Amino acid sequence: MESQTYLDHLINDHSLIERALIMLEKQANKREDIYISLAFTLIDFLEVYGDSCHNRKEEEKYFPYLLKKGFPPMGPIRVMLEEHDGERKYLAELKQMLIEKEQTGILNENFHNLVIDYVNLTKNHIWKENDILYPMGKKFLNQQDGEYLQKEFEEISFEIYKDNGYQRNLRLISTLEKQAGGRVNMLEVLPYEVIQNMLDALPVELSFVDENDIVRYYSKQDEKKIFTRSLSVIGRTVQQCHPQKSVHLVNQILSEMKDNQRDNAEFWINFGDKFIYISYFAVRDKLGKYQGCIEMVQDIKPYRELQGEKRLI
Ligand SMILES: [Fe+2]
Ligand SMILES: [Fe+2]
Repeated sequence: MESQTYLDHLINDHSLIERALIMLEKQANKREDIYISLAFTLIDFLEVYGDSCHNRKEEEKYFPYLLKKGFPPMGPIRVMLEEHDGERKYLAELKQMLIEKEQTGILNENFHNLVIDYVNLTKNHIWKENDILYPMGKKFLNQQDGEYLQKEFEEISFEIYKDNGYQRNLRLISTLEKQAGGRVNMLEVLPYEVIQNMLDALPVELSFVDENDIVRYYSKQDEKKIFTRSLSVIGRTVQQCHPQKSVHLVNQILSEMKDNQRDNAEFWINFGDKFIYISYFAVRDKLGKYQGCIEMVQDIKPYRELQGEKRLI
């Protein structure tokens, strides 16, 4: 696995914070039916991991280090600091409203709007950092600076959590999402036909075999393909659909993927006037359990001929 950089570290923090924000927003939308202990846990996570841990990494280590390396003092960093202050004020107020709800049974009527304002501020803040400030800052830091910052960040996490903090909070957020149904499924909202058309729009041919080696899907069903496929392969094992002379390779790739010895494989061949690149990727669930294999076939001849840059349409 590639080692984590100081920016991966900050961006991973952001992704956990964003997942908590989405759950908090969902709870706020329930108004009086809010699941109060979940809301408390989320506010607590946002205060401790989001502010005391993540914002502290930025305020005490990252921002000062950028300034030391010549990053302009006025401008983005000042705005980021103001927004951190804003986040803190919102969180304190929201926490107070939850305490009152617990004591009186009544949720302050401003709670919902306050959550929306807080979530918008924080989401925007994260976007500005990920897309503007971090890329800008990168230009002022070399690899050594990055390694130094990464160590400093880890020390802050360790001070608070006695470990790197990320893994345990990832588990916390994942568990809360399972209980509260907070995970955003981006594909869920897309009509099936759009998903199919998205896959067909890619300049590659895709096939999928499941964990039992059964062919389940191929893209561009009605189009001319580099390797012809017909509906009769669906439901059959991949071994039944491959030329005999290459079946041993297919078997080897699949068994190594199932044994976690391999995540991908690639081949390239001359094919008429085309240069075909064939790659295989293991599909796994979030815990690493093998779910099948995707085959991707593409003619990369046009890409091999590219030179220089193309920056305009
Ligand atoms: Fe920040
Ligand atoms: Fe941040």
